[in-house]
Amino acid sequence: MGVTAIVLAAGEGTRMKSRHPKVMHRLLDRPLVWWAVNSARKADVERIVVVVGNGADEVRSYFADDADVEFVEQTERLGTGHAVRVVRDALGGFSGPVVVLSGDSPLVRPETISSLVEQTKAAHNACTVLTMTPPDVCGYGRVKMDAAGKVAAIVEHKDCTDEERATLLECNSGVYCFCGGRLSENIDKIGCDNAQGEYYLTDMVGIYVGMGEPVASVHCDDYAELLGVNSRIQLAEATKVMQRRINERLMAEGVSMLDPDQVWVGAEATIGRDTTLLPQTFVWGKTVVGDDCVIGPNSRLENARVGNGCTVDETIIVDSQIDDDVCCGPRAYLRGNTHFLKGSKAGTHVELKNSTVGEGSKVPHLSYIGDTTMGAHVNIGGGSITCNYDGVNKNKTTIGDGAFVGSDTMMVAPVNIGAGAITGASSCITRDVPAEALAIERSDMHIVEGYAQRRRARLEKGNK
Ligand code: UD1
Ligand code: CA
Repeated sequence: MGVTAIVLAAGEGTRMKSRHPKVMHRLLDRPLVWWAVNSARKADVERIVVVVGNGADEVRSYFADDADVEFVEQTERLGTGHAVRVVRDALGGFSGPVVVLSGDSPLVRPETISSLVEQTKAAHNACTVLTMTPPDVCGYGRVKMDAAGKVAAIVEHKDCTDEERATLLECNSGVYCFCGGRLSENIDKIGCDNAQGEYYLTDMVGIYVGMGEPVASVHCDDYAELLGVNSRIQLAEATKVMQRRINERLMAEGVSMLDPDQVWVGAEATIGRDTTLLPQTFVWGKTVVGDDCVIGPNSRLENARVGNGCTVDETIIVDSQIDDDVCCGPRAYLRGNTHFLKGSKAGTHVELKNSTVGEGSKVPHLSYIGDTTMGAHVNIGGGSITCNYDGVNKNKTTIGDGAFVGSDTMMVAPVNIGAGAITGASSCITRDVPAEALAIERSDMHIVEGYAQRRRARLEKGNK
């Protein structure tokens, strides 16, 4: 029977002091709740149900394209036990193992989830609770053991006696695996007679123990995996943990980093061997970087595809692609489906949008190229611009193979520059240029002999 994962994410998160729901705050390039969902995915669960409440629309719309995520709305936040009950009612009951995760615990490893499920199945447990021993136990539910050292109950921090608070150091992580059938039948037994007047999911443990159902606890030795995010300070701490985890994996796979504390790579980016990431580099989204590249410093790749042997120096590449041996920067901005073919170059202070740059072509200095298809071995002189926007429409420019666009050429689109054509420096090109032709548009240049000397004499005389 397939596993159902429930991700609890209806809470408000008042300590974030935010207009957005807590679980939508970003850890690296993804919201907190995405990380919990992703861990569930990687643990091979069959169904993922996110419980939403506060800011429900914002959470739902983030996952709008993800067909594998279902939502259940908890309209009143009456506690974690109530949240799970609402899911049971919405799904018409549970079958198979049910894993419960918190939307504000982004660091749980998929292997930890799978192993919890395996242990629950093997022992036929009604519930297996993952526990931890954090350095600061304040706020966490405490695990009470019986004389034989078996879990007897979970008592919330606020419901503990002073003695319990001081002596019970093993805490509830908020991650559980339940037997779905037994959970469906028994969850209504949870009451709300406690310090917070809430329906605590944690009460299931004591209820099962009272019924003689098998319940177990599994201790997770890496407390950092179970860090909960309740404040922006904890968000920064959790981000650090994930940054380190990802960077250490990449380095083990053959990626170099001059300073791993200054490199941020998202969950879904992949980076090839012998590539070096320099400081202040951000690799976000579904970016793929090949082998033998140098990326950074001060660069951001977002949903970018980078071939092998590329240099990306102080450059931003968003939703764009560079093929092998492409050189970018310093200070290039490639966006909106731009594609640089093999061996081409984006130089300094250039912006390219929705354009293709053919093999070996160069856009070296201070240019804007938009909505353009450029052939191979084209040279774009410094300061050249495609005037692609007439105030209403975006118009296309094509530049043929081997064309030489002189410096400071304005190409007023729609316009075609033929293969091998030349444009004179400073020309404003408003009509198509045939292949192999010269297009030059500039007024005559005058020489006035001795003018500078006469002017100086005039000015000096005026000063006396
Ligand atoms: C919970 C556990 C506590 C454990 C801790 C670990 C309970 C009663 N307590 O406490 O034993 O040590 O997690 O981090 O479960 N939520 C809903 N609907 C609700 C209430 C909460 O979806 O009605 C969600 C929250 O958004 C959050 C998660 O459930 O993502 C946990 O709720 P929270 O209030 O943060 O519980 P804790 O006090 O942290
Ligand atoms: Ca919490």
